[in-house]
Amino acid sequence: MFALPKFEPQNFTLGSGTLQPDPVIMSTGHVDTAVYTSPERFAAETELFGKVWLNIADVADVANPGDWIVRDVHCRSASVLIWRDKQGKLRAFHNICTHRGMKLVWGESGNSLRFSCPYHAWAFGADGRLKAVPDEGCFPGLDKEASALRPVNLGVWEGFIFINLDPEPRQTLAEYLAPVSARFQNLPFKDFPHRVTMKQVIDTNWKLGLEAQSESYHIRALHSRTVSGMVSTTANPFCHPLFWEALGQHRTWSTAINPEYELSDTRPVQKYSFLHSAQLVGATDADPTQEKADGFNGREAIDRGDPASWGSDQMVLFPHAQINAGSNGCWLNRFQPISPDRCEWEAVYYYRTPSSHSEVFSQIYALAFNRDTLIEDNGAIERQQAVLKSGAVPYIQFGEQEMMCRHSAAVVQGAVDGLMPIAVAAE
Ligand code: FES
Ligand SMILES: [Fe+2]
Repeated sequence: MFALPKFEPQNFTLGSGTLQPDPVIMSTGHVDTAVYTSPERFAAETELFGKVWLNIADVADVANPGDWIVRDVHCRSASVLIWRDKQGKLRAFHNICTHRGMKLVWGESGNSLRFSCPYHAWAFGADGRLKAVPDEGCFPGLDKEASALRPVNLGVWEGFIFINLDPEPRQTLAEYLAPVSARFQNLPFKDFPHRVTMKQVIDTNWKLGLEAQSESYHIRALHSRTVSGMVSTTANPFCHPLFWEALGQHRTWSTAINPEYELSDTRPVQKYSFLHSAQLVGATDADPTQEKADGFNGREAIDRGDPASWGSDQMVLFPHAQINAGSNGCWLNRFQPISPDRCEWEAVYYYRTPSSHSEVFSQIYALAFNRDTLIEDNGAIERQQAVLKSGAVPYIQFGEQEMMCRHSAAVVQGAVDGLMPIAVAAE
């Protein structure tokens, strides 16, 4: 019943010709461990992050005129100011003053239609223009127009903000997302406006983070104390996915849950919480008397395979973001490289706006429960990175149930080989 679905990788483009997921990784599941540890490979991936569209924030972060946020792309040493002007236009700029290169904005978010540099007080408007220069007479040759903030390309899809650090991107955001947007349309992201964000710097390679969230094989072992019973069943003990599909360089898959999982009276708080429908994955016991907006289940292009066993659908947006759609909301992971053995993990949870105290309580409980599960993941992948660096194991091996990891590794490999080839080998 839970035979693995078929998976057909596709060629893809990042705007510079046709690229191919690495065929050896796809067929054998073997990935050289140096891919996770080598400075040369990391340098190539850093180049990649400077050329492709990156899912970086939510439009809701900058909803009103004057709203601004700062987002870092660590591996590029890029600080990006995303700013909505008085007319409502959203723009992105490098967060660098054009006088002497000071970081212009030192905070993380706020509302303002003008920024004055902390160093010498050059002032810039939300359109990026240089508005004021103290003691301007001492800059006789100053080209004020050319001294505007340096723009960063920005695009929006389904309420998510994407940036591209390449001054001349090789493809538009629409082209980059075409395989995903053709598949997923009119999803109810807007029904889940209540957001909570978690962030952590993890001492691991960013790809190990992505991979831990791209397979269910580990749930039975690593999550035996948390979610294993909610997912693993006698019929599907190793949590095989219900569905998966390549979407160019991106991919999607459906996770399975245990439809017979019973909330236990020995865990009354958990039972209370899950009955109030804050559980993101599966909610078969949710209180039927509560009137709710529809979730992602039952949507066209979502909820494939056996509906009773459906847990969530995941869209993995190359290179580093995962959007997960469940019955009662969605959540997103971003894994941003910092160095070969360090990354920043950001998780955003999107819920319905709670309409009762019990729902508020349930959401907070569900978040704490998710956090506990994710700490199991993050603790594991730090240990994994620490010993991978020894080089004692020359390659890792993904099984056929870890096909999303194979595809993830094969696509990054294909992109690196196609765009900035380097020689990487285990010592
Ligand atoms: S560096 Fe910004 S005003 Fe001098
Ligand atoms: Fe996990």
